[in-house]
Amino acid sequence: MAVQISPSILSADFARLADEAARVEGVADWLHVDVMDYHFVPNLTLGLPVVEALLKATSTPIDCHLMIDDPDRWAPGYAEAGASSVTIHAEAAKAAVRTLRAIRAAGARAGLALNPATAVDGYEDLLPEIDMLLVMTVEPGFGGQGFLDIMLPKIARARTLIDKHGGEIWLQVDGGVSAETVERCAAAGADVFVAGNAVYGSDDPARAVRELRALAERA
Ligand code: DX5
Ligand code: ZN
Repeated sequence: MAVQISPSILSADFARLADEAARVEGVADWLHVDVMDYHFVPNLTLGLPVVEALLKATSTPIDCHLMIDDPDRWAPGYAEAGASSVTIHAEAAKAAVRTLRAIRAAGARAGLALNPATAVDGYEDLLPEIDMLLVMTVEPGFGGQGFLDIMLPKIARARTLIDKHGGEIWLQVDGGVSAETVERCAAAGADVFVAGNAVYGSDDPARAVRELRALAERA
């Protein structure tokens, strides 16, 4: 499994998003865009119009993480707009299979995210419907939180289930991923690493991406 780094623009300067995207272009595999609606999580960020603007401003593929109450209604629109990956939360979707299929039908990779308290074991049957499983390593809603070590066994269990299933499913981790924690995530079986504060809180985001990649590959 190849290591991929997805910097989260949640920690970037929202007044200069095109410039911030450019700082990791050619270095990052993805640009992680956190969509929050004040309902599923207690924070509000951005929506489809800003994603559409970002798609025009960068050549880096967009990885949309939808922390919203009604992904069944809104997720396909992000895929239709051109996001290359769209992730919905298992806790929010009322018709996850239909929505995951709609995301794929619109040409994007379909992701399923699990909050820290959501066990991965109940989702084994959904693996054929997804291209990426996202194990949250903080409670979603804010950047810069401390990594939850208690999620490491869950990452390992998710890796076992994915390997048993045998498909080409990526395992993403999001929350508190940094130079201090990325190796443990990789050792547990993650292969796509979201990092907000560790990348955009640094003086040199491109260097931070390269460092995270090197650490994950070494693990
Ligand atoms: C949190 C978001 C994350 C956030 C991660 O709910 O889903 O993508 O940007 O930020 P860090 O890496 O700073 O924990
Ligand atoms: Zn995220």
